[in-house]
Amino acid sequence: MTATVVRPTAQPELLALLGRTPVVRVTAELPYAHPGFWAKLEGLAAGGMKARAAVSMLLGARERGELRPGAPVVESTSGTLGLGLAFAGQALGHPVVLVGDSELEPSMRQLLRAHGVRLEIVDRPAPQGGWQAARLGRLRDLLAELPGAYWPDQYNNPDNTAGYASLAAELSAQLDHLDILVCSVGTGGHSAGVIGPLRRHWPGLRLIGVDATGSTIFGQPARPRLMRGLGSSIHPRNVAYDAFDEVHWIGPAEAVDSCRRLARGCFVSGGWSTGAVARVAAWAARVHPGAAVATVFPDGPHRYLGTVYDDDFLTAHGLDLTDAATRPVEIPHPRAAEARGWARCTRVADPLKGKR
Ligand SMILES: Cc1ncc(COP(=O)(O)O)c(C=O)c1O
Repeated sequence: MTATVVRPTAQPELLALLGRTPVVRVTAELPYAHPGFWAKLEGLAAGGMKARAAVSMLLGARERGELRPGAPVVESTSGTLGLGLAFAGQALGHPVVLVGDSELEPSMRQLLRAHGVRLEIVDRPAPQGGWQAARLGRLRDLLAELPGAYWPDQYNNPDNTAGYASLAAELSAQLDHLDILVCSVGTGGHSAGVIGPLRRHWPGLRLIGVDATGSTIFGQPARPRLMRGLGSSIHPRNVAYDAFDEVHWIGPAEAVDSCRRLARGCFVSGGWSTGAVARVAAWAARVHPGAAVATVFPDGPHRYLGTVYDDDFLTAHGLDLTDAATRPVEIPHPRAAEARGWARCTRVADPLKGKR
């Protein structure tokens, strides 16, 4: 059976809503008092942080002739890029077909469908490569079914990274100075995209990557993960390994504890990745007194009301916030020990170096 999708009318005026997000000074205790850090609130823009990447990838493909006017766009996503693509699809006039999985929150499914996305859900992880591999399998079937369909491939597409040039430009205009930038890493897109331009502006800038426990991006063994957004069970090519000065792995208890402290203490908050970067940014501000620290909050709290902010969810998943680590365990090398909670390593290397 050949699947069909309805082509939306392009609304290029939407592109004026891209980015231009505010920064706010965060001083809420996380869990200790700290001098404060800057947070870029990407959840406040239409289409969220990944609208920047989505618009960049579709415009790039249009320019190269890989995406014809009105042709469908097909992508695998755990949500945030899906919303960005829903935005970019409407702005540029492309139907959007997304492959999610059983763990995609019901509210996010509703939101994507409300924005006209056709959503396909895979219901079991692949034996090798987990949910991501299962989603990619379904995506390949869709590419074969839908004539002219284009797959942005966010994990490996350099236009994903390039889309964050605007984020870097905004940060360099909004902040007087920056010593340390803390970024969550999923596809590697936003950290790779901002660090080059920001280091041209502030040459001494240090970059701290924040990954999830159980993610294999920085060389730890891949395990089933509760947290979404940051972390991966594959090795995305977009990760700029050479750019990172250190990496932290954060567990779900630390992320939830931080999200809730943010929501209570300074109103702005978000989901797993926001909680994770906030904890590390507060730590960095505390251990480097006088340093200007900034981070990116990729989205807001709404998507996570049934997870991060739900006590029943925590109980069902055996999460006890009194277990949340208050400082990282140091490991000398990513393979030296498996991170079970907050861990830190100052040796960062591409685990696939020489194998790609
Ligand atoms: C909510 C959220 N936070 C953080 C990230 C990580 O960003 P990046 O893919 O640019 O590394 C993602 C990526 O999917 C995300 O969805």
